[in-house]
Amino acid sequence: MMHVTCILGSPVREGNTDTMVRALLAGMKEKADKTMDWLVLNDLVFRGCQACNECKETSVSPCVEEDDMQVVHESLRKADLLVVASPLYMDGVTASVKAFIDRLNAFFGADWSPRLPGLKTVLLYSQGLEDQDAYEEVFRLTEQVYGKFGLQIVSRVVLENAGEHDAAAKRVALLEKLEALGRELARES
Ligand SMILES: Cc1cc2nc3c(=O)[nH]c(=O)nc-3n(C[C@H](O)[C@H](O)[C@H](O)COP(=O)(O)O)c2cc1C
Repeated sequence: MMHVTCILGSPVREGNTDTMVRALLAGMKEKADKTMDWLVLNDLVFRGCQACNECKETSVSPCVEEDDMQVVHESLRKADLLVVASPLYMDGVTASVKAFIDRLNAFFGADWSPRLPGLKTVLLYSQGLEDQDAYEEVFRLTEQVYGKFGLQIVSRVVLENAGEHDAAAKRVALLEKLEALGRELARES
């Protein structure tokens, strides 16, 4: 049994990143016996890291903030695959994804050892700009920080030219690519 944690970083339901994640999961469903947490950050109440550093004192309960990020952390602890989907907002990931990343501070040990070693991770992005390479630096730095928690980035898929709400739904080739990726990940699990 495979456990998948899906983090949706867009406030838009049935928008582009939402559609991309669903295509990936559709492919996976054909192959994998899986459980899944579908976590829409916009629906969760949480704030950024408060820098209390309590998470460095214990490995049992990594974060002492009693908010909805507890649900995300619990899901991550049992995950075999993590999917993080974000639109590009103001030349970066959305504010909720950035706050999620800050709260991953709990997944550094006291000696900065990663607490999610080898967790397979797929990153999905959607952007208004046509240039696929426009945000290469954003993606690279984001992957760099994910790597510090031990996440193993297995794939990054970017939908460009997606200023319209239903852009992803119209991109059949992209959706097929995501379904194929889902099938492949499920086969490997
Ligand atoms: C507040 C805001 C900021 C945005 N900033 C950017 C940007 O900096 N670069 C870009 O390419 N697209 C930008 N966009 C466009 C979105 O990234 C694009 O429409 C994306 O496909 C939305 O994904 P969603 O439907 O999953 O929410 C922005 C959209 C909004 C609402």
